[in-house]
Amino acid sequence: MTQDSRLKTKIVISCAPTTAPYLAAELLALNYPVLKENPTDVVTEGNMQDCMRLNLYLRTAHRVLLIIEELNARTADQLYEKARLIPWEDYLHKDGFFSIDSFVRNESIRDYRYASLKLKDAIADRFQKKFGERPDSGKEKDQAVLFMHWVDEKVSLGLDTSGETLAKHSYRHLPWKAPLLESMAASIILASRWDTRSHFINPMCGSGTLAIEAAMIALNYPPGLLRDNFGFMHLKGYRPAVWNELKDEAREDRWDELPFRIIATDNNPLAIAAARENARNAGVEQFIEFEICDFSETPVPEEPGTIIINPEWGERLGDEEELAPVYKQIGDFFKSECSGYWGYIFTGNLNLAKRVGLRTKRRIEFHNSKIETRLLEYELYSGSKKAEKTAD
Ligand SMILES: C[S@@+](CC[C@H](N)C(=O)[O-])C[C@H]1O[C@@H](n2cnc3c(N)ncnc32)[C@H](O)[C@@H]1O
Repeated sequence: MTQDSRLKTKIVISCAPTTAPYLAAELLALNYPVLKENPTDVVTEGNMQDCMRLNLYLRTAHRVLLIIEELNARTADQLYEKARLIPWEDYLHKDGFFSIDSFVRNESIRDYRYASLKLKDAIADRFQKKFGERPDSGKEKDQAVLFMHWVDEKVSLGLDTSGETLAKHSYRHLPWKAPLLESMAASIILASRWDTRSHFINPMCGSGTLAIEAAMIALNYPPGLLRDNFGFMHLKGYRPAVWNELKDEAREDRWDELPFRIIATDNNPLAIAAARENARNAGVEQFIEFEICDFSETPVPEEPGTIIINPEWGERLGDEEELAPVYKQIGDFFKSECSGYWGYIFTGNLNLAKRVGLRTKRRIEFHNSKIETRLLEYELYSGSKKAEKTAD
């Protein structure tokens, strides 16, 4: 890349609300410092090659943003003047295509699109003056993507090295009912106490997202290996050899077997067909045992592990009444069949959660598509120390 590869700059990685702690943990595990943890992003530092690596490995991130300039602007005209001085030609091809993603909260700007337009004009005018031609621009995010974060007078400008969001992990061609976003499923697993070396059981698996993410985590299989287009590929100085080397390294570090079981079940054959197909797309089908059965018939190996259930939580009136017995049965199943396990229920209905009838050890907050949800944790004692039944 044209940016001096030794120079470290600020990298802001965005994520869904409530998932920043899991993203921060991922960064630390990859040996990147966590300079700041905000509600919907985590700040670290590095260069363009680090951005490529982060795009390859991160499971809970949405976008990897490399900051190239921080400036003060009160008005759109000030933004234009200052943005015109930035050497955009170091990053963008003059005959390429770019789009701009903006977040603007400034009292002089009523519509963020106006601010984006001013930035686009500044870039186009600079190219026109320097080269007599300008790159094309538009909405599509499948080529070079720039971003602008403008709050009050502070403007951060940078490169969205991801382009399209990283939240989807490219294997789910067949969604099922209410599927979890892949980055959310990864966050749920990272929030649990699963040690990645013991059984992982996922009844009511739907399209299989939790089981597939669990397999990928345990195999040290980065989601970026499944994707072939990123924003950084459209920036000036992109060297495919560097990217290929990063991918080869990741493939070498991947495990090829798992010394425990991952079991995913659902009572709907169409859900299992979708889950199997998605696992095949991800390349992890051979690591997951799929079965069509009622959740209460899910095989649970004796040696302990982790069991995560994401039941329906209903959105219409009357759903709650219908689903209440299911939640009670989940509690009974946890208690009678899953001793020694860590049990988890991911739900957006706390009234229904009460029907489980087991004492929660932790209630971990999540926001899933703007709905307040919880990951409820149950310690399912083995032997005589059975999980206590309470009117929780
Ligand atoms: C909210 S969806 C799970 C979505 C899943 N986490 C995903 O990412 O695709 C709930 C699933 O539970 C299944 N289900 C409902 N009642 C069931 C039961 N009694 N036994 C087994 N599966 C059941 C449904 O078929 C549905 O696939």
